[in-house]
Amino acid sequence: MIAILGATGTIGNALVRRLSALGLPVRALSREPGKLRERLSDLDLTSIEIHTADANDSAFMLSALQGAKQLFLALSNSPNQVALETSIIRTAVQAGIEHIVKISSPVYDPRSPVAVAGWHGEIELALAESGMSYTILRPYAFMQNLLRLTPTISAQDMFFGCIGDAPCNFIDCRDIADVAAAALTNPEVAGRIYTLTGARTFTYPEIAEQLSSLLGRPIRFIHLSPEQLRSDLIEHGHMPSWLADHVVEIQTMSTVIREQPTDTVERILGRAPRTLEAFLQEHAVHFQPRR
Ligand SMILES: NC(=O)c1ccc[n+]([C@@H]2O[C@H](COP(=O)([O-])OP(=O)(O)OC[C@H]3O[C@@H](n4cnc5c(N)ncnc54)[C@H](OP(=O)(O)O)[C@@H]3O)[C@@H](O)[C@H]2O)c1
Repeated sequence: MIAILGATGTIGNALVRRLSALGLPVRALSREPGKLRERLSDLDLTSIEIHTADANDSAFMLSALQGAKQLFLALSNSPNQVALETSIIRTAVQAGIEHIVKISSPVYDPRSPVAVAGWHGEIELALAESGMSYTILRPYAFMQNLLRLTPTISAQDMFFGCIGDAPCNFIDCRDIADVAAAALTNPEVAGRIYTLTGARTFTYPEIAEQLSSLLGRPIRFIHLSPEQLRSDLIEHGHMPSWLADHVVEIQTMSTVIREQPTDTVERILGRAPRTLEAFLQEHAVHFQPRR
């Protein structure tokens, strides 16, 4: 039995679908099982157990993990992510979980200037010290993040960032889920650390060009200073300050450390990663004008 924490999440949901398509028994976990059931309503749920699980409650988590042998762990970012994920790892040991596949980030140094990367570094250390076997997936930016740009693109034909024309790795979360499924089902893939990207990098001005030709209207990328972007995200995007800091830190990091693609997805899956062009085409409707 494979337990999936974060089954309503971007990667977790795709993973439930992948494992269920393979006919494997899955226990999908959520704080809101009703929401999860609705998200999976197009699937045959006979091989999927739906359980309530809240990482804030270890006793509850222990009963949700009992009987499972493997755990997929992708928790949304929050200032208490380290406390929550390290508590889940301790509970997983108690529950008899034998292998964890954890979603981390490409920068994972606990001393990193990107706070979230530092959190992942601390969690990776806790996993290494747990004595359990584990696989760590370090994906670069999700293509699905680009859907967060839809409000300003739809309303103003523009999107904002402080990343200039730095090359950026993007990966479709469905490819991350496919790699996670491989790590959960193939002992030759499990037990390692993988950095995951798409096949090539893109700059934000290149994404603007792609959107312009796809949507048939000019879409512009506007470069802001980190301070301007941060205050925009808080004032107009209504982001909490820690999340605005994260967006700014991660984009600033991309301007300092040049990103390069890896061939890990292709090596593990035996096929090329999904492309940004295909992702934008599939989601073009979300970028249409709403004025
Ligand atoms: N976005 C990126 O570009 C990027 C790049 C690299 C790494 N990452 C990492 O990817 C991870 C997020 O992955 P994702 O986007 O697939 O996840 P996500 O969509 O943010 O969802 C993660 C899930 O966490 C669950 N969750 C949150 N708090 C919980 C709690 N207290 N107890 C139990 N479940 C809880 C939520 O499920 P319920 O609400 O159903 O309970 C949610 O579905 C983060 O750690 C992030 O740092 C992101």
